Amino acid sequence: MDDKFEPEELNLNEANSPLGAEEIPLSPDEEQLLGDLGLFGSTRREFLGQSMAAILGTFAFGLLAQEEALAALAPSPDAVYASQTPAKFENAVRILVKINGARQRIDVDSRTVLLDALRENLALTGTKKGCDQGQCGACTVMVDGRRVLSCLTLAATCDGKEVTTIEGLAKGNELHPMQAAFIKHDGFQCGYCTPGQICSAVALLQEAKNGDASHVTPDVRERSRNLTLSENEIKERMSGNICRCGAYPGIVAAIREVQSGNRTAQTWGFVSEERIALAMNPEGKMEVRHNEIV
Ligand code: FES
Ligand code: FES
Repeated sequence: MDDKFEPEELNLNEANSPLGAEEIPLSPDEEQLLGDLGLFGSTRREFLGQSMAAILGTFAFGLLAQEEALAALAPSPDAVYASQTPAKFENAVRILVKINGARQRIDVDSRTVLLDALRENLALTGTKKGCDQGQCGACTVMVDGRRVLSCLTLAATCDGKEVTTIEGLAKGNELHPMQAAFIKHDGFQCGYCTPGQICSAVALLQEAKNGDASHVTPDVRERSRNLTLSENEIKERMSGNICRCGAYPGIVAAIREVQSGNRTAQTWGFVSEERIALAMNPEGKMEVRHNEIV
């Protein structure tokens, strides 16, 4: 099949007629008028094209002027405006939830998902909305210690439960060990998936303590507690959390360290001011070779 565009196929064969003026059907009177004006062939097409552009320009100018005039009008005392405050919920339910250790009473529409209640009602925006349909894991939080996708969990079902989000993991200035391990192992880039990854990883620690089986557990009949998870187990158990930046090696290393308790060396570090000063050549430019400042 020939993919080449032929001008005829796209009806662009009227080189002098950008607005398709040749296609405009003219009445006998118009034909007569253009003829009287001595406009034939390409001159006629040019004339019609320019007239059309002038008409469109005038029309757009008129619209702008009309918009400005309307904006300058004083509001009518009878005018009815959309309310700036949210309307009363159609199916309101009042729920009592313990969120990050604090009891909260919130009124939500019965159809509100936990993710929206956290972000919109409680301004806890650490929990991220990725796909909003249970596919990415960005919205993972813990309800009564178990990880859930908050975009698929109705807020009303959390009544009387305890919800932990990323904001509730650190104790003051002290990061949760999983948060610290993510930093140590460079387990993120843009960070959008990170709150969900960390909440998922924290809940995973409890699952390993309970001896919960996963899809790659060799023998699901063996019910031993306090499992030490292999790399494969961690990858499988974290497979519901997607990272578009591909920070998976760092994420797995961080979880493995916290889960096993075996501390490993940090493989990266910030360059010190001193090394930067040493690396500056006399022209004030830095020399970088083999990914290292020299
Ligand atoms: S936002 Fe909930 S799974 Fe993607
Ligand atoms: S760090 Fe960017 S999406 Fe995971």
